[in-house]
Amino acid sequence: MSHGSTAPLPGGRRGPLPGARLGALAGARAGARSGARPEAQPGTRHRALLRSTAALGALALAGAAALVATAPLALATADEPAGTAADAADAAADTDAADTLAQLASARGKDIGFALTANYLNETAYRNIADTEFNFVVAENAMKWDATEPQPNQFSFGAGDQVAQYAASSGKGLYGHTLVWHAQAPGWAQSLSGAALEGAMTNHITGVVNHFEGQVEAWDVVNEAFNDDGSRRSSFLQNGMGNGWIETAFRAARAADPNVKLCINDYSVESVNAKSTAIYNLVADFKQRGVPIDCVGFQSHLIVGQVPSSFQQNLERFAALGVDVRITELDIRMSTPASSGNLQQQASDYASVFRTCLAVQACQGVTIWGITDRYSWVPGTFPGQGAALVWDENYAPKPAYNAIYTALGGA
Ligand code: G3I
Repeated sequence: MSHGSTAPLPGGRRGPLPGARLGALAGARAGARSGARPEAQPGTRHRALLRSTAALGALALAGAAALVATAPLALATADEPAGTAADAADAAADTDAADTLAQLASARGKDIGFALTANYLNETAYRNIADTEFNFVVAENAMKWDATEPQPNQFSFGAGDQVAQYAASSGKGLYGHTLVWHAQAPGWAQSLSGAALEGAMTNHITGVVNHFEGQVEAWDVVNEAFNDDGSRRSSFLQNGMGNGWIETAFRAARAADPNVKLCINDYSVESVNAKSTAIYNLVADFKQRGVPIDCVGFQSHLIVGQVPSSFQQNLERFAALGVDVRITELDIRMSTPASSGNLQQQASDYASVFRTCLAVQACQGVTIWGITDRYSWVPGTFPGQGAALVWDENYAPKPAYNAIYTALGGA
């Protein structure tokens, strides 16, 4: 691991949006286009650092690095006696100041996120990794329709607020997942159709987007609306409202918040294929008709050894439409127990996905769908498969960690 003496500090991606929301959001947009990211406000950055022991260590080392940077004459003095403060600072910067993934990603102008279930923050190992390795957060479940509006027009934001507060207090960006999805929708909504469903969907979007306005920078407005062959998925949404429901949802979200970015998100759309082309056509149509849409999320629930070869080309064709792209739910599963060969392949695959995002300017970043294999959704859905994340069930970093580190420019 290594030692950038001038790398940004961990966790310090940006300040909280409320108060300075419009300016910050405008900055974020400009930054996205230029490849630069807005600076965190210094006070926030320091508060974020003080949250963890690891960050404190980094702060000390960064201070040493600053000393080096501000004392070039002392360092250049050939006959300076050994053992000076400058020597100590230099040595510290050279030996101990390993960058975190968050530092490396921030230095490259990219988000590195994780799906958070707030209860797990009570575990020290989870908390330390969350605090130091990521600059971006998404709620794994807490902002979905069943969680935020369990009964009609009775909103429940406690769990979502926990995630938002963690993001704000740790200086991380916050992504919203998800406003409208056929799964994890409350039974009362699934029983509606026609104008009643459209009214309920619009009311839901308005209530949730208004609540998190100024905190969430981009929303998955619509999640998983298409089948693999590019047709619309049969769901209570599609069957109850017809083809217009996606446009209605995006217009409602824009009406609720004129500044937040609005995304469509799906899985198995990483390659150029019938499903991704259906979304491509929808985005092109929306752009042409002035329907608000700002970004496309590529979930990337991948299988080891199967990173699609057309991934970059696919991201680039969306970027050419004038939308941001983002890897939103990355994990790479394998048969369990994991073989060392598969873990090595997984490392290579993780690195490949990060390199793909780095290669596409419109790619905002990569979010990993959790921290530890202990809590991954994969084994519950695909029995006999798992080991899909970057830290194992005991929070030990897997080979994927170093591979991502290197892909992000760490040496
Ligand atoms: O909240 C209830 C709890 O009250 C109950 O006691 C418990 C009993 O099983 O279930 C809890 O709900 C679970 C929920 O997660 C919250 O923990 C559900 O059973 C469980 O099915 C649900 O799984 C989530 C899944 O979405 C639902 O489809 C996973 O955690 C979450 O990682 C997964 O995430 C999705 C993305 O949102 C969309 N893309 C695919 C991705 C993976 O499936």
